[in-house]
Amino acid sequence: MKKILLLILVIIIIPCIFMFKAFADSSKEIKKGSIMSDKKILVAFFSATGTTEKLAQKLAKVTGADIFEIQAEKPYTDADLDWRNNNSRSSLEMEDRNCRPAISSKVENMESYEVVFIGFPIWWYREPSIIDTFMESYDFTGKTVIPFATSGGSPIGNSGENMQKLASEAKVVKGRCFSVNESEEVLKKWASEWL
Ligand SMILES: Cc1cc2nc3c(=O)[nH]c(=O)nc-3n(C[C@H](O)[C@H](O)[C@H](O)COP(=O)(O)O)c2cc1C
Repeated sequence: MKKILLLILVIIIIPCIFMFKAFADSSKEIKKGSIMSDKKILVAFFSATGTTEKLAQKLAKVTGADIFEIQAEKPYTDADLDWRNNNSRSSLEMEDRNCRPAISSKVENMESYEVVFIGFPIWWYREPSIIDTFMESYDFTGKTVIPFATSGGSPIGNSGENMQKLASEAKVVKGRCFSVNESEEVLKKWASEWL
């Protein structure tokens, strides 16, 4: 009887231990260079001219997050982005707090994320209206939302508070602006507070 039990141990249990160890090692490999976190993380971003996109890619890399681009159904032209022109598309959109520019893309599995970083350029000292559309497009219940931005020098201002009002079920933190050249180390340290 003892011999049979020993045989079962050798044939079944020991290989299982080795298989589990190999699996654990391979998942560690995927996370190499990024923060080790059990949480499922998304970096969603809107970027009209590519600056915030670069930062978002760096943030996704150091957090091991999935990345999603918030794209306008009607892409912004240079004329649309002319902030010196009071009648440009961006000026008119930002003047109307109820404006919700349409988004052409959708996060299919938003329910699976616990932590969502949302990146954008600062427009008129706050989040662009398309970010307001994004906030109203999903159920953020139980999720932590962390805004991040690039700008020509302005801080993130009231963006986090504005976004919180549009998704009261989420926990939206203040967030912050970064230079597009911010180091991976700084981003990693900043992001680790929520991971
Ligand atoms: C319509 C518009 C409004 C802007 N308003 C501000 C602002 O209030 N403060 C600021 O520092 N930069 C402002 N900027 C500059 C952008 O925030 C900055 O160039 C940003 O890095 C661009 O990011 P992107 O390339 O991802 O679109 C504005 C740019 C545009 C197009």
